[in-house]
Amino acid sequence: MVNRKALQENSMDEHGKGVNPAIADETKFKYERILTGDRPTGPLHLGHYTGSLRNRIRLQDKYETFILIADIQALTTNFEHPEMLRENIFLAALDYLSSGIDPKLSTIIVQSMVPEIAELTAFFSMLISINPLRHNPTIKTEAKERGYKELTYGFLGYPVSQAADIAIFKADLVPVGIDQLPHVELARKIIRKFNELYCGKLIEPFALIDKFPRLVGLDGGLKMSKSYGNSINLSDSEGVVKGKIRTALTDKNRIHPTDKGNPYICTIFKYHTAFSSETLIKETEANCKNGKIGCVQCKDNVFGSIKNILEPMYEKRAYYSNNKDEVWDVLYEGTKKARLIAEQTINEAKKSMRIIYGD
Ligand code: TRP
Repeated sequence: MVNRKALQENSMDEHGKGVNPAIADETKFKYERILTGDRPTGPLHLGHYTGSLRNRIRLQDKYETFILIADIQALTTNFEHPEMLRENIFLAALDYLSSGIDPKLSTIIVQSMVPEIAELTAFFSMLISINPLRHNPTIKTEAKERGYKELTYGFLGYPVSQAADIAIFKADLVPVGIDQLPHVELARKIIRKFNELYCGKLIEPFALIDKFPRLVGLDGGLKMSKSYGNSINLSDSEGVVKGKIRTALTDKNRIHPTDKGNPYICTIFKYHTAFSSETLIKETEANCKNGKIGCVQCKDNVFGSIKNILEPMYEKRAYYSNNKDEVWDVLYEGTKKARLIAEQTINEAKKSMRIIYGD
């Protein structure tokens, strides 16, 4: 088991200043179980790949990995269309499996099939007041982006349910993008309060922050997102990817291939940084600055790098698309295995609250 006290003490830097105690330090401490997840709202794209999938594929060799397809959380923004969930859950699983998530190493779970999460969410909801939820920066940004004037109880409270996602599976490490850090901090706060109040033994998790900068959209927009229509999906065919890359925004001031360019404002150069080899990145940087490569050629080069990543996925995707039952079996098996832990946790939690009434 992790020595939490040592961890707390060692989360100081050499000046004795606190680094964020919610952030994990993999170099110093041994963690055991990962829980991470996605809302199944549509096909995954290259932004998901650089932002989380790539990291999960690396981490699954090192930690016991649980990946939650958070369909109830998806309802917080899509409650009008629950009928879409089935297909989206399947597509998320297909994206995972084809991109290299190995069901022997990673347990994939469907959230709504683990009702103990909802039960723990109810207990947790007593331990947090409304204000910190209203001031949660991620909730605020998301509400603004979506143009919500009023927040539903479910949307405002999804971080509480996310705390239950983490606690129910006894995870100690949560690899997420920086936008999810407030949720991990909240989870820690709730769990600590639960443990203090009820002498509970829930595990306080740590966030493992993925430092890769967010992938920009084809339009150069701040982020690649399905809803902005600026994404390259993992399921896009080679031809589609090539066509999309052709439309990507480059340095507008470069008219002729011999014009000196500014790679740092170019979408394609950002993609090089994410997907190309060191040598190609360096070459591209110099050639663009010196007007030695045209944008068309440069786009072809980045297409090559992206193709290298997507190509191995196509074969697995074709296999699983023709064997849909196998995908569902992975989900049923994963959920079944994870549910055993969830049942154990909810029993322990109720016991510590002294609310087990039967015999
Ligand atoms: N909120 C996460 C997202 O929007 C998805 C998620 C649900 C999650 N439950 C989780 C992430 C638990 C980490 C841990 O992507």
